[in-house]
Amino acid sequence: MNRILLIDDDKSFLKVYSEILRSSGYEADTASGGPEAMEKLGRDHWDIVISDVVMPEMNGIEVLKRIKAEYPEILVIMLTGEGSISGAVEAMEEGAYTYLVKPLEIDQLLLNIKRAGEFLELNSENQTLRTQISSMEGSTQLIGASPSILNLKEQIAKIAPANASVLITGESGTGKEIVAGLLHANCLNPGGPMVKVNCAALAESVLESEMFGHEKGAFTGAVAAKPGRFELAKGGTLFLDEIGELSPKLQSKLLRVLQEKEFERVGGTRTIRVDFRLISATNKDLKVEVQKGAFREDLYYRINVVPLNIAPLRERAEDIPLLLEHYMDRYSSELRRGKLVFDKEAMEALKNYRWKGNVRELKNLAERLTVLSDGPVITARMLPEEISGQKGWEKDLSQMHYQEAKHAFEREYLVQMLEKNGWNISATAEEIRLARKNLQLKMKQLDIRVPGRQSAE
Ligand SMILES: Nc1ncnc2c1ncn2[C@@H]1O[C@H](COP(=O)(O)OP(=O)(O)OP(=O)(O)O)[C@@H](O)[C@H]1O
Ligand SMILES: [Mg+2]
Repeated sequence: MNRILLIDDDKSFLKVYSEILRSSGYEADTASGGPEAMEKLGRDHWDIVISDVVMPEMNGIEVLKRIKAEYPEILVIMLTGEGSISGAVEAMEEGAYTYLVKPLEIDQLLLNIKRAGEFLELNSENQTLRTQISSMEGSTQLIGASPSILNLKEQIAKIAPANASVLITGESGTGKEIVAGLLHANCLNPGGPMVKVNCAALAESVLESEMFGHEKGAFTGAVAAKPGRFELAKGGTLFLDEIGELSPKLQSKLLRVLQEKEFERVGGTRTIRVDFRLISATNKDLKVEVQKGAFREDLYYRINVVPLNIAPLRERAEDIPLLLEHYMDRYSSELRRGKLVFDKEAMEALKNYRWKGNVRELKNLAERLTVLSDGPVITARMLPEEISGQKGWEKDLSQMHYQEAKHAFEREYLVQMLEKNGWNISATAEEIRLARKNLQLKMKQLDIRVPGRQSAE
């Protein structure tokens, strides 16, 4: 049954209506103002909040805004005074589920609560459906034709059907989650559950009860027993994302689960047996973490039976055009626009860029360019400065042959020195201890032009 929090500064109103809700089978509690309400919201789980608009300490709209910011999944029903239509409008604009006019009619109140409950149920079904769809979508696409991606695909095909634990490593945004999805989609029981836990997103105690579940009454707010993700993953895949962030306590609890395949819920004594295939991912270098003493060595060996590494995007520049095409096409069709292409200079800049955020950064850029561009051709000037105006230096030298790298360095060095000396060739030559004639020759070879002149003197 849904849990409802009633907020009003009128104590007798609270008493009467919370009784009515309870006798209709709801779990109801009350708060006599915004501050008390926020405190109760922070402590327990709530489905529906019913709040008065006019209250002395914190206005109901303010309460509504805070709830929507901190607990967007809670449905809020606002109570307005008769004739206060502006309050009702504002409430709806701020995301209230609905509003009711005081004095409340009990039937109407109960009907609206019932509808809100149905809405919540539908919403949570949609949510699971949506995550299923998105993981399916993710699992079908690993764009790339570079040797390292082809090799990765081969490895995935080979190890997916095995039951061994896989550790996926790679910088942020390289596609670790896609790889995890592919491993599950190609395992022996792809119909089984795939359950994800993000070890970085939650505080230790919350994460613990998410992983292991808890028994009723294990802590304040544990109003009912809840199975953990380990239990939910039974017979399927457990994906521990950002495993490098796991606290020492949870590391040792996890180790025990992996060794003994059993555990107890938080606050429980019953031993629960589990069996799942473990996939972990991290953008940290766990070996270094082990050396630092931040990650248990025994756990490291347990989770790292099969290592899979995804190369950063800048080390597989040939995938950049493919990824761009894929995402530009996708966003163009979403926005009902014609095909967009990059000119040569723009594509060169994109291929040479360092992509610290890897494919995620590329994907975001593709979306931005699709929205912002007005013609079919995207030029270098339309790219962010950090991409187009890049210095030769910052180009990834590891992508270049020796001669190319040497030229990139020489060119950048000479341009900087010339700039420093106001493009005075004699002064520059003297400073860098090169004969003036040789500097001129270099400038010609490397096509360095004095600004405003056609070519080097
Ligand atoms: N090879 C690829 N082909 C298509 N899309 C990709 C590829 N690699 C990554 N992406 C997309 O880039 C985004 C980031 O990928 P993902 O979430 O898997 O990264 P991650 O490695 O898990 O990053 P983080 O460490 O930040 O969690 C996702 O939207 C994903 O779909
Ligand atoms: Mg990820």
